[in-house]
Amino acid sequence: MITSGLTQAVVVIARSLRARGIEAIAIEDPCFGFHREAIVNAGLRVVPIAVDQDGLDVAELLSHNVGAVLVAPAHSYPTGEVMSTLRRTALISWAQNNDGLIIEDDYDAEFRYDRSPIGAIQGLAPERVAYAGCASKTLTPALRLGWLALPGWLVGDAVLQKLLDDMGSTVLEQLALARFIESGGFARHLRRVRPSYRRRRDTALACIATELPDAVPTGVAAGLHVYLELPRSCDETALVVAAREQNLIVEGASWHWSVPSAARPALIIGYGAISEPAIRSGLTLLGSIYAQLAH
Ligand SMILES: Cc1ncc(COP(=O)(O)O)c(C=O)c1O
Repeated sequence: MITSGLTQAVVVIARSLRARGIEAIAIEDPCFGFHREAIVNAGLRVVPIAVDQDGLDVAELLSHNVGAVLVAPAHSYPTGEVMSTLRRTALISWAQNNDGLIIEDDYDAEFRYDRSPIGAIQGLAPERVAYAGCASKTLTPALRLGWLALPGWLVGDAVLQKLLDDMGSTVLEQLALARFIESGGFARHLRRVRPSYRRRRDTALACIATELPDAVPTGVAAGLHVYLELPRSCDETALVVAAREQNLIVEGASWHWSVPSAARPALIIGYGAISEPAIRSGLTLLGSIYAQLAH
């Protein structure tokens, strides 16, 4: 099924599950805040499950009664961790033993810089996984194109929910993207941008080490952002506001956590659309704003 981005894919599945009587979906904690809110808006409860360096804590998931779990195993947002093979196997067992559904957001799978990406979970258990991808990171979020590969038993419900929502996604953009993929243009685009994003990431990390030595970047070499943990004493909101006053846009990470007030202060630094010199000057400015606030 073609959707309007990954977000509508989450909404369509949430509504389909709700119609089947499922009341709760587990989510990564932290996760992309809009997806958490979209599930709640569809009338379901979210059950936050901690994410550590191996991805979602499946042992914690086992202690809850939920019908589905939303995960981004290739690159968890925003912390940037990858789900380990052991956890993937445990997650599939959970789904098989509990009639559960894994909603796999294959976020950033195309942008792994240090090794080949791990394959999607969906291929290992197609009847228990709803696979979701989108063009928002590889091309642009302005396209609003996403896709779902669903287990057979969910297709009818999901088609109905999509129809009732918008009668189907616009076709012209789909045809243009299909042409772009078939002509080899999309694969060429990915080959071209990967090394440039990797250089931007390396530039950002090198700059953070010198300009923001108190901050700890987390996550693997992938994607288009760095998650930057700050000392507990740092006021995340004050730092974001002070940066904006100097036309420097960084995002505070705490709203992506289920309990923002309990989250360790952190910033999300996006480098995908910024040149290397601008990354250097931006992070140097951020370092001086941080230093001023700290003293
Ligand atoms: C985890 C995650 N998945 C997917 C997306 C893209 O969503 P959409 O395709 O609706 O733009 C985002 C956007 O930042 C995200 O954080």
